[in-house]
Amino acid sequence: MNDRVPIAILASGRGSNFESIAQAIGSGKLQARITHLISDFEEAPVVEAAKRMGVKAKVVKYEKSREFHDQKIVEAMSDDPPRFLVLAGYMRLLSPGLLKSFSSDQGYTRIVNIHPSLLPAFPGLHSYKKAFEYGCKTTGVTVHLVGEGLDDGPICAQESFSIVDCQSAAEVEQKGLKTEHLLYPQTLSWVLPEKFQIQSREGGRSCVCKS
Ligand code: GRF
Repeated sequence: MNDRVPIAILASGRGSNFESIAQAIGSGKLQARITHLISDFEEAPVVEAAKRMGVKAKVVKYEKSREFHDQKIVEAMSDDPPRFLVLAGYMRLLSPGLLKSFSSDQGYTRIVNIHPSLLPAFPGLHSYKKAFEYGCKTTGVTVHLVGEGLDDGPICAQESFSIVDCQSAAEVEQKGLKTEHLLYPQTLSWVLPEKFQIQSREGGRSCVCKS
């Protein structure tokens, strides 16, 4: 059996996480195959990055409703359907229909996201800035399976780092992105082959690596 898990990456912007995943695949650190890069913005740098790296890039602009838009995404991927969706700076909430298309029999979605905070702290936008402005001494990065709410779903991996010495939100982001670019491919290496179990706790669910 071919053990390269087909994934589509959804991204709206700069694309540094897209690049780090594509590089991890290229160097053999991550057993996966990118079927598509899907962006909702034609001008997003990630679209250019994908073309440069030989990845099939498609732009699906938002129209009408979340359900309609997500249906268009599914159609755009139908020439080579992925097993997992990997969100990398994708700025839209997914519709219940799309979550359902990627849900497993075990009750989790085959959709992964990276969020720039230690969830459940600072969900939503500008999380590095929020942590800096709050006066946090430490912040971090979370990789999680996507749930129905904003930045929720079983947590797969988290990594923290000190921001005591950071003088600006931009410095926090710089530090955070370095962490993201290592943590995301590393976590995907056990999430994509589904080497995990979901543990239910009182406040939520956690995704725990089996090996
Ligand atoms: C990252 O900080 C990621 O954690 C968040 O959006 C940002 C995307 O950056 N979800 P990039 O487009 O991958 O460079």
